[in-house]
Amino acid sequence: MPRIGLIAALHDELSTVLQRLPDEQRESVAGRDFWCGHWHGHALVAVLARVGKVAAATTATALIERFGVDRILFTGTAGGLAPGVRVGDVVLARTLLQHDMDASPLFPRHEVPLYGRARFDADRRLSDAVAAAARTALGHVEATLGAHVVQEFALHAPALHEGLIVSGDRFVATAAASAALRAELPDALAVEMEGAAVAQVCHDYGIPFAALRTISDRADDSAHVDFTRFIARVASPISAAVLEAYFSSLSNM
Ligand code: ADE
Repeated sequence: MPRIGLIAALHDELSTVLQRLPDEQRESVAGRDFWCGHWHGHALVAVLARVGKVAAATTATALIERFGVDRILFTGTAGGLAPGVRVGDVVLARTLLQHDMDASPLFPRHEVPLYGRARFDADRRLSDAVAAAARTALGHVEATLGAHVVQEFALHAPALHEGLIVSGDRFVATAAASAALRAELPDALAVEMEGAAVAQVCHDYGIPFAALRTISDRADDSAHVDFTRFIARVASPISAAVLEAYFSSLSNM
């Protein structure tokens, strides 16, 4: 029976999950609360990572070493980089990279020293299952969010994008900074602050990993506007709906 580690970036997401675990028990490790329980009959350990690559790596390591999870899912928000990636869309990582890794000239730009690579792939099978769950959830997003929220945030029918997510210890909040990232990494779909670190930890341990992000902003000068409100009204309900579809699909296997 799988034991799934769920890392959420947002408190709201965790509370949605916790409400659905009939038997959750809290354990504190490394200053974090880990909630162990079952969802749709599947063992789950849910935790809030906090922000940034180091916090995410510590969290992932504890999930693996102390809680024995055999796969890790990450949900949260990201800034859209590629032209068609709009606020309200969902991005599934197929590969991840640390955009602020730079050990040049000793190693090529972005390469993680001594790994011989800059990109860490998400697990194909796990990501396929999460993609299917996301398609199911996005199919009835208006019912999930309510028509007034769709209108308030001027959301179009949200699309699912799959490809490169880049991570770094910086909230990207100017048009110049996002243009620089686009120029440097033209295939990057979205930017956030944790995913590639967790991908590296999962690579080290040979644990399948998938990351799904709701686009909260365009990583430009208006990136901070209504961020908190967007998370509560849009990002959290979307990721809860995707997780619900994912866990119920496991039960049907
Ligand atoms: N997470 C959500 N939006 C982001 C942004 N613009 N930069 C980094 N991380 C983010």
